[in-house]
Amino acid sequence: MVTVVTHPLLQHKLSLMRDVHTGVKEFRELASEVSLLLAYEAMRDLELAPHTLQTPLVEADFPMLSGKKLALVAILRAGLVMTDAIVDLVPAAKVGHIGLYRDPESLQPVAYYNKLPADIAERRVFLTDPMLATGGSASAAIASLKAAGAQSIKLMSILAAPEGIAVIQRDHPDVEIVVAAVDSHLNDHGYIVPGLGDAGDRIYGTK
Ligand code: PRP
Ligand code: URA
Repeated sequence: MVTVVTHPLLQHKLSLMRDVHTGVKEFRELASEVSLLLAYEAMRDLELAPHTLQTPLVEADFPMLSGKKLALVAILRAGLVMTDAIVDLVPAAKVGHIGLYRDPESLQPVAYYNKLPADIAERRVFLTDPMLATGGSASAAIASLKAAGAQSIKLMSILAAPEGIAVIQRDHPDVEIVVAAVDSHLNDHGYIVPGLGDAGDRIYGTK
């Protein structure tokens, strides 16, 4: 399943991210804000249970988060800006990191780091990567999450290409995708068009 979050605040901020004139500081801030708005939607189905609390006036039952604990997992490096923002919303979540970069020639993901919460099998996992292009990186990251025992995974991306969505749906049909937009296509270098460029470079000011 693919959920495209069409909220006007998010769409406005995404358009600013696309603008080539948006500088590093503003791009990073926008990526954080967009991530929070994506998380708001991606976490819509978190379970609640009534808890008895004392307000200044009365004792009564109020909804609080219950059910499976959460894990945020970033695909390095660009996914880090997303987990850094979202963890403020869900501070009890554990945070994992999967280091992958895309070989510029083959466009195949190259793994260089993997550190996940030991109890990932018992947690709902929200995997973050701003760009779902060929889908190779996200598919490999999901495979390593599953190899570590993860059973409930949602992929959160800012931008997706139809090609990347098709790869995730083929390789991991159980994984829901939450994105801010699905663009037209990939160019010959595997970049999303119209896109926003290289997310990692724009977040960290490299290149
Ligand atoms: C970018 C992006 C994704 C990947 C998407 O990472 O952040 O992880 O490309 O491409 P794919 O869907 O075709 O695999 P990049 O390899 O540039 O690494 P970086 O985040 O370290 O810059
Ligand atoms: N990775 C990016 O950062 N941008 C793209 O358009 C494709 C892959």
